[in-house]
Amino acid sequence: MKKKRGVFLAGNWKMYNGPGAARSFLSKLVERVKSSQTIEKAIMEHRLVVALFPPALSLHVFREGKEMFPFLKYGTQNVHWEKEGAYTGEISVPMLQEMACDYAIIGHSERRQLFGETDIAVGKKVCACIAGGITPVLCVGETLEERERNSTFEVVERQLTEALKDVSPKDVLASLIVAYEPVWAIGTGKNARDEDAQDVCRHIRELLSRRFGEEAGEAVSILYGGSVKPGNVEGLLRQADIDGALIGGASLQVDSYLEIIEGALKVLA
Ligand code: 13P
Repeated sequence: MKKKRGVFLAGNWKMYNGPGAARSFLSKLVERVKSSQTIEKAIMEHRLVVALFPPALSLHVFREGKEMFPFLKYGTQNVHWEKEGAYTGEISVPMLQEMACDYAIIGHSERRQLFGETDIAVGKKVCACIAGGITPVLCVGETLEERERNSTFEVVERQLTEALKDVSPKDVLASLIVAYEPVWAIGTGKNARDEDAQDVCRHIRELLSRRFGEEAGEAVSILYGGSVKPGNVEGLLRQADIDGALIGGASLQVDSYLEIIEGALKVLA
């Protein structure tokens, strides 16, 4: 078995944990991480990245606490591609920079399905992030119907091709994370089987290598998301092409998020 280069754990809080809840989550997390030398060591040695994606209104809590917990990375769940303008309800890359964000989730299936986000919009957002020094966490994944039609590879290929149409190999090498999130596994308690998730993640890596070169394909972290829990994270992370996890529900509580972090440490050991 190939030894893991490192593991990227990302907690997507969706529309949970406003500023008050974010503050208490963070102080509890910092206290627990500081008392665990193994977690701190893995982070310092760049073998483990722990990131959170709170609602935009909770970002200032992360910004204010940055000196206290420099180990923690964070970002937003969405961003607009324009720098500013009359776009009611949107936030821009310069605003993310002001909040010292590291990442932005782009093209999450909830944005695609509930808010009509198209592949073209996803592509513009990816480019805006890269231009502004924010690493996009680009989400792709098929619906249940598409899986049953055996169209998973085709769907993922279309989503990746559109989103990365104007991106260069240099950008991919320096700044891209891809998250494979099968829509049918999100919030359902039904995660993809380890080997099925691995098959799609390997396909994603092959597509990236073909399009941007092998070095870029190998450099990209590919995450799996969809009902990741303390009980299944280890099996998923042991797959050769799964470099991390994008976690929804189980990232909302410090205890379950920490159990997931501990599962990742076992894989890194
Ligand atoms: P769950 O872990 O709650 O299934 O959510 C996954 C997800 O959508 C993360 O972005």
